[in-house]
Amino acid sequence: MVADCNTIRLSATDRGIRAAVSFLRKGGLVAFPTETVYGLGADARSERAVAAIYRAKGRPAHNPVIVHVASAAEAAALIDLPDAGRKAAAAFWPGPLTLVAPVRGDSGIAPICRAGAETLAVRVPAHPLARRLLAAFAGPIAAPSANRSGQVSPTHADHVMEELLGRIDGVIDGGACDVGLESTILGFDADGSPRLLRPGGVSLEALEAALGPVGAAAIVEDEAPNAPGQLSSHYAPGAAVRLDAAAPELGEAWLGFGPDPARGSAISLNLSPSGDLEEAAATLFAALRQLDEWLDRRGSIAVASIPEHGLGRAINDRLRRAAAPRG
Ligand code: TXA
Ligand code: MG
Repeated sequence: MVADCNTIRLSATDRGIRAAVSFLRKGGLVAFPTETVYGLGADARSERAVAAIYRAKGRPAHNPVIVHVASAAEAAALIDLPDAGRKAAAAFWPGPLTLVAPVRGDSGIAPICRAGAETLAVRVPAHPLARRLLAAFAGPIAAPSANRSGQVSPTHADHVMEELLGRIDGVIDGGACDVGLESTILGFDADGSPRLLRPGGVSLEALEAALGPVGAAAIVEDEAPNAPGQLSSHYAPGAAVRLDAAAPELGEAWLGFGPDPARGSAISLNLSPSGDLEEAAATLFAALRQLDEWLDRRGSIAVASIPEHGLGRAINDRLRRAAAPRG
């Protein structure tokens, strides 16, 4: 389903869900809202369907995808969770958390989802439409973020359309995503202790309150095919991004947080005038897209400092990636 298909905008109704399920059953690709970002879904048991995700996104074959299921019990049938993983599942599922653990031999998940790894990433999303889709499909749905590889994740159905129109069968339009940042990814060391792989919609503080100490981020490689360990330039707008700015310089666009400096740029947005990190997370990707569009994908976006706690860690992670040198 990659070139020249007629991408249908599906309504957030039983009819829309039924149409989405029939596409998935035929091995097609359907984007759907989760509380974090829109995912690009395919039947996770079908090698061919998941291969179509990689083609539609232009995603490197070495980058594994997250499998979405309806419940922690279904997740437990796919991966071997250590104690800390079961605790995390009980505390945060359904929700913006992904757990990475050794795949079970009888999972039935197409190996392509793991891209060669022995582990599988699994998530139980909370968004009502994602849950209705999973219930109606009655099977695991593989879904990376529904953007072209290397672009900012979509938080509105329109963002999905802008990038994947003609390359996928449909998108269920559920409006804006509440959290606005991708899920937190948690992995486990050989002894079962938890390690943060990607900061996201569940804060480190919340994880540690539930699990005790969580190992420092061993940031996973993302969509850009860089060498491991390099900061990938995923989430990159066309414009350059300048972080921790006190104010915009002449000609720069401005992305503020909290009270804005008096001399604002003509092209400016504010992630949260009141300095609320949840509001900032929810608006970040749409704001980056909007500023980039206003700048015609050139020039520079200056971004105010964001505090490094709570959701601020995930916001800063995405901003650092947006500002990283382009590969
Ligand atoms: O919020 C989210 O997580 C969204 C929604 C749709 O669920 N999905 C998402 O997927 O952000 P994606 O593919 O854009 O990012 C998933 C990340 C990638 O960096 C991938 O490398 C990593 O998860 N990942 C997937 N499977 C993995 C595994 N077995 N081990 C380590 N990292 C893995
Ligand atoms: Mg992504």
